[in-house]
Amino acid sequence: MINTKVNIAGVELKNPVMTASGTFGSGREYSEFIDINKLGAVVVKGVADKPWNGNPSPRIAEVYGGMLNSVGLQNPGVDYFIKEDIPFLRQFDTKIIVNICGHTIEEYINVIKALNGKDIDMLELNISCPNVSEGGMAFGTDCSMVERVVSEAKKYADKPLIVKLSPNVTDITAIAKAAENGGADALSLINTLTGMKIDIYRRKPVLANKIGGMSGPAVKPIAVRMVYQVSKAVKLPVIGMGGILNGEDAVEFIMAGATAVSVGTANFINPFATEQVIDGLEEYMKKYNVSEVSEIRGIIE
Ligand code: FUM
Repeated sequence: MINTKVNIAGVELKNPVMTASGTFGSGREYSEFIDINKLGAVVVKGVADKPWNGNPSPRIAEVYGGMLNSVGLQNPGVDYFIKEDIPFLRQFDTKIIVNICGHTIEEYINVIKALNGKDIDMLELNISCPNVSEGGMAFGTDCSMVERVVSEAKKYADKPLIVKLSPNVTDITAIAKAAENGGADALSLINTLTGMKIDIYRRKPVLANKIGGMSGPAVKPIAVRMVYQVSKAVKLPVIGMGGILNGEDAVEFIMAGATAVSVGTANFINPFATEQVIDGLEEYMKKYNVSEVSEIRGIIE
């Protein structure tokens, strides 16, 4: 018998596999392909206090080993999310994690206040999106700013607060410690790495925003390294992501120190990816006599 349950900041997940924000919407399209009841959690696309239009197109480009995006956190706003998406997701036996975004601390707090008392399980503070000029990564790359925004968010949040970290920093452990000092309940990493693609025939950047965030299997070694370093540097549970395609990739992140993992870019290639990661993790546990996920968590010294 295997037990795949994991606990993050007091919230029990039936298994450690969740979706990465921005790659799964609020699950509607994917519910036609997979059984959302099987997921440990759904992490929804970033939600702001008002609707955001996002950046101009083109805002997606394929690159070797992954993709670039410069979506710019397009979203219909927290009122729509509360009215339409929470009831949709609550049909399923899975946890709901809301990724929240803002241009200013005040805007983050507006979203948190609007979500207080609502039927969700956790919040994920997005201080790592590289595609917005205010908020996002601008907040997540400076230790004192990270501590400030996290501690302000914590004052208002009535749910556990995950802080999503940017890899576009010199020392991710310093940022992780700042989030821990600010009162984060858990950390998730990595968001995308900034990248660029040029159309040499048009002599122009492919993305209208010129620069975007790179994700996909090519970034996995960087993500594993950062999860390993961060999980050794802080006491908080870590949610690892970056290029996970299958159960073996999930095991790798867990051995590096992750309590849970998120599947992101793989969803665009293969809508069954999340279920296949869960199945692959279970197969690994059975084959190698791992009865609890915690037996392999952080085993790399
Ligand atoms: O541009 C985007 O919507 C990306 C968001 C993120 O990386 O958090």
